[in-house]
Amino acid sequence: MSDSLYPVPEQWARRARVDAAGYEKLYGRSIADPGSFWLEQAKRLDWIRRPELAGDWSFDEEDFHISWFADGKLNVAANCVDRHLARRGDDIAILWEPDEPSEEARRYTYRQLHEEVCRFANVLKAEGVEKGDRVTIYMPMIPEAAFALLACARIGAIHSVVFGGFSPEALAGRITDCDSKVVITADEGRRGGKRVPLKANVDAAAAHARAMEKVIVVQATGGEVAMQPGRDVWYHEAAALVSAECPAEPMGAEDPLFILYTSGSTGQPKGVLHSSAGYLLWASYTHELVFDYRPGQVYWCAADIGWVTGHSYIVYGPLANGGTTLMFEGVPNWPDASRIWQVVDRHQVEILYTAPTALRALMREGDAFVAKTSRKSLTLLGTVGEPINPEAWRWYHEVVGEGRCPIVDTWWQTETGGQMITPLPGATALKPGSATLPLPGVDPQIVDAEGNVLHGPTEGNLCIARSWPGQMRTVWGDHARFFQTYFTTYRGKYFTGDGCRRDEDGYYWITGRVDDVINVSGHRMGTAEVESALVLHPKVAEAAVVGMPHDIKGQGIYAYVTLNAHCVGDEALRTELRNWVRTEIGPIATPDALQFAPGLPKTRSGKIMRRILRKIAEGDVSSLGDTSTLADPAVVDDLVANRVG
Ligand code: WT7
Repeated sequence: MSDSLYPVPEQWARRARVDAAGYEKLYGRSIADPGSFWLEQAKRLDWIRRPELAGDWSFDEEDFHISWFADGKLNVAANCVDRHLARRGDDIAILWEPDEPSEEARRYTYRQLHEEVCRFANVLKAEGVEKGDRVTIYMPMIPEAAFALLACARIGAIHSVVFGGFSPEALAGRITDCDSKVVITADEGRRGGKRVPLKANVDAAAAHARAMEKVIVVQATGGEVAMQPGRDVWYHEAAALVSAECPAEPMGAEDPLFILYTSGSTGQPKGVLHSSAGYLLWASYTHELVFDYRPGQVYWCAADIGWVTGHSYIVYGPLANGGTTLMFEGVPNWPDASRIWQVVDRHQVEILYTAPTALRALMREGDAFVAKTSRKSLTLLGTVGEPINPEAWRWYHEVVGEGRCPIVDTWWQTETGGQMITPLPGATALKPGSATLPLPGVDPQIVDAEGNVLHGPTEGNLCIARSWPGQMRTVWGDHARFFQTYFTTYRGKYFTGDGCRRDEDGYYWITGRVDDVINVSGHRMGTAEVESALVLHPKVAEAAVVGMPHDIKGQGIYAYVTLNAHCVGDEALRTELRNWVRTEIGPIATPDALQFAPGLPKTRSGKIMRRILRKIAEGDVSSLGDTSTLADPAVVDDLVANRVG
């Protein structure tokens, strides 16, 4: 890895909200006196009742609790919409770029957004949704998706967005887990010129999603769908019957805002629950500082609303800050590999936030796709989702940004609500591949396997030693799992699941997950989930899944499969099993490599030695380590001999 330093450009140091000295001061205050620091920051929100309490938390088992601004009252949607009406009612809130480049972009001013959100909220009420109810949102990247999130927030319903790429099975599991009576979807989605049958997927999920009573269907493409009388409602028909005024429900600061399912190292995905005030404050605070955002700038986070990045940095952060957020329905490489840069030029985007996997894919197509566009409007670039390799970083910096735009490499997680370790463009000298320094209020610690805190330049496991407002509050329906997952590995600290190095300048370098989670194209996949899907197949006896290096995706999925007696592992079955996982979970979970293995390396107590499987998947068979503790060391030879890829 390269440690070359890119200093803060002169004009950034001058004009940014926070310069290097400012960062030191803010950071120091946030750690020395968090109470007053966060009550001061809380002024960035509009409160129905201003809080006098800041953080009240303990990560210890006896007294485990987390709350922020507990005596405050506010409404999140009013903060993202209503409060901007007086000064910025005619500013563009949402700028929508359709999949099909020849189609017109759509623009919604804050005033129009207000009307849309109120109407949507009234439709939800008309369908019986009440404060505290869960609403599942399974939508394409259209403005109505943002209206739906904000409509839930307006009436105090808890939204649970399920990524449109997930299968009916995965959708059903998520509807059932949080007991959603109402599901919002669209007839179809569009991505890269292809149609995604969202409504048909909801229909297919219905058999396993008994909680679901109502389906609200937004007409997006006009494609043919079957409507089930009594259950399914066209949004446009329901919206025509309701008023465009809907009062915003006063909510307690700690009332839940949303659930978002994410993969862990064990079992089924967990419903990560975020609060109203703490979460919104974190989204707004980080969006303003990290992007040095000023209203009027066109800002584009090229994520999907189905992931936390879309929640915090397409919807809540930019809208809380009165910004113009670009929402893109399509994909970066359609109709061709210059689409992103064309959208940048068309809408004069100043700030672009995307994922390393997208950059690597575009980089491979050659510089000509970039060079034929102007990109002069760009001032700042960002990345998120996985470590960025220095080659991709340099390409982003030199070719895309022509050396003029700082890159903020932002480390965070679904659980953290927003960015945690990241450069500030006016304050932090950059090193390609490093997420650099913690934001004010974030207290990272690197610990060894025994939990000893390591100081100075070091490498180990990344923990966060104190709570921050954007921290998740619980796992939906399983508070014990919340404590168990994050606070028992290293007592008294939040454990991120990431490995991390700190260099001589105090810069943090995330080295990747240290648990059984794979980061595929910046999306988290639990190995256990893929294994459970595989063993559901009648021919599969056992499966073990690990990550492997992948040029574009960062990590790919490598599956070892042991078949039942008399089943033959041929190419046809390999294809069938890969498609099986795709259908069970979704395309992102499809194994990149699948090896039929007569036996898996196990200890005498029956535990699969994943260390060995990882090495073989990586192609690093010369250093398999000690295999003498295996019940049958011979299985390793077979695995090595029949390695795929
Ligand atoms: C995991 C969280 C953060 C929103 C999207 C993913 C990895 C994320 C970075 C980065 C190195 C990163 C970590 C983390 N990760 N950003 N800038 N550098 N690694 O959210 O699905 O909750 O995944 O993504 O491993 O734990 P997520």
